[in-house]
Amino acid sequence: MAQLASGVSVAGLALLTSLTCVPAGIAQEANYDESRVPKFVLPDLLQTESGQPVTTPEHWVGQRRAEVVRLFEQHVFGRLPTGDVMLRTQLRSSVPDALQGLAHRREVTVYLTPDDAGPKMELLIYTPRDVKGKVPAFLGLNFNGNQAVEADPRLHMTESWVRNNKELGIENNRATEATRGSEADRWDLERIIKAGYGLVTIYYGDIDPDFDDGFQNGIHAILRKTAAEREGDEGGSISAWAWGLSRALDVLQTDSEIDASRVAVFGHSRLGKTSLWAGATDERFAMVISNNSGCGGAALSKRAFGETVGRINRVFPHWFCVNHRKYNENEQALPLDHHMLIALAAPRPVYVASAVEDEWADPRGEFLGLYHAGPVYSLFGLKPLPSDVMPELNQPIMTDVGYHIRSGKHDVTDYDWEQFLKFADKHLR
Ligand code: GCU
Repeated sequence: MAQLASGVSVAGLALLTSLTCVPAGIAQEANYDESRVPKFVLPDLLQTESGQPVTTPEHWVGQRRAEVVRLFEQHVFGRLPTGDVMLRTQLRSSVPDALQGLAHRREVTVYLTPDDAGPKMELLIYTPRDVKGKVPAFLGLNFNGNQAVEADPRLHMTESWVRNNKELGIENNRATEATRGSEADRWDLERIIKAGYGLVTIYYGDIDPDFDDGFQNGIHAILRKTAAEREGDEGGSISAWAWGLSRALDVLQTDSEIDASRVAVFGHSRLGKTSLWAGATDERFAMVISNNSGCGGAALSKRAFGETVGRINRVFPHWFCVNHRKYNENEQALPLDHHMLIALAAPRPVYVASAVEDEWADPRGEFLGLYHAGPVYSLFGLKPLPSDVMPELNQPIMTDVGYHIRSGKHDVTDYDWEQFLKFADKHLR
C-alpha cells in the first residue's frame, strides 16, 4: 500500500447549460459602469501581518504565503476537509482506442472511505495512445457528469446528484441519456491529446453536490470531526471540490501514464474559482488555469463590478465559508483581495482567461487580479504581466503568467484550449 504525499494511502491502482446564467432580478442591480467602481486600496502582498516587508522568496515561502492562505481560509473559502481518508481505486473500464484511436481512455473509481457504500469519485482519464512514457496532463472538474464529456454510450453515467434541467430531461436530480456529450464542446479533447497531453476529469457533484443544504452533504460533512455547530471558517463546496482535486492528484501520483509532477489544474467559472483555490492549497499542481472565474475567483472583489460578494453569498450560500458573508455589501472591509489568491500560485505558471461578453465575471477585474499578483512573481525573478493596460481582444499575453480576453460569452471554447496548450508547451515541457 503506497503512502502518499498528503498523508492518505492508496491501495492498488489499477449541461448544466444554464449554469452560467445570471440569476433573474440580480443582474439588473449589478454595476457595469467603470466610472462607478469604488475607490479601493489593495492589501500589500509583500508585507507580513506584523508589518515587515517581504523582500526575498524565502520570506514569502517561509511566512507570508501561509498568512495569505490562512486569510482565504478564514474569510473566503473556509478550511479544506482534514479528516483521514483511505483512497482505494478500481479500474472500471479501459478502452485502448478511444477518440478514433487517438487515446487510451480509462474510468477509475476512487473510493474515499474504506466502506464501499461511502462516497466515491469517478476519474475519467485520457492519455495519448502513441506517446511512450508519462505525459503532462490537465486535471479539471466537469459540470454534468463524465458521460457529458464525450458522447460514447459506453461511458459510465454518473449516479451522483445532478441539477434538474428541462433541456436535458433531468428530473429528480438523476442524469439522463440526453446528457451524453452535452459538455463535449468545453473539452477540446482531440487538440489536447494530439498535443501530447493527458486529460483527467471528475464530475464535481461526486465530491459535493452543488446545492445548499446547510453543509450537511458531500465530503466536507463526512470528514467533519464533530457534529457540533459549524464554525465560521469551515469550508464550503469550493473547498470540498478543491480537496477532491488534490485526492485525484494523489491517485495520479501512482499512475503509469501520467506525470504527476506536470499536472495543470484547470477550471471554468465556479470551477475556475475552485482551480485557483486548489492550486493555492496544493503546491504539487505544476500549473494553475482559471477560465472566466469572476467573483470569488480571479476578479478583484473590492471593484464590486458585475457579481458582488453579497450577491454570490445570497445565491450560492454553500460555496464559501460563513465568515465570507460579513463582507456582503462590505467588500472594502475584506483584509484581502483576489490578486492574493492568484499570487498563491507563484512561482508556478498561472493563466487567467476572460471573455468580453462575460461582464458578470468582470473581465477587467480578472485581468487586474492577475496584474496585481505580479510582485510575487517578480520576487522570484519571474516575469509577471508587463503593464496594467488590458491587451486587445484575442491577443494573449504569455510570460511566466498568461492572460487573454477573447470575443464571445461565458464559456470554455477551443480558442481557450489553444492558448492553454501554448502556455503549457512553454512551461510544462
Ligand atoms: C453563476 C455565478 C458565477 C459562477 C457561474 C458558474 O453565474 O453567479 O459566480 O461563476 O454561475 O459557475 O457557471
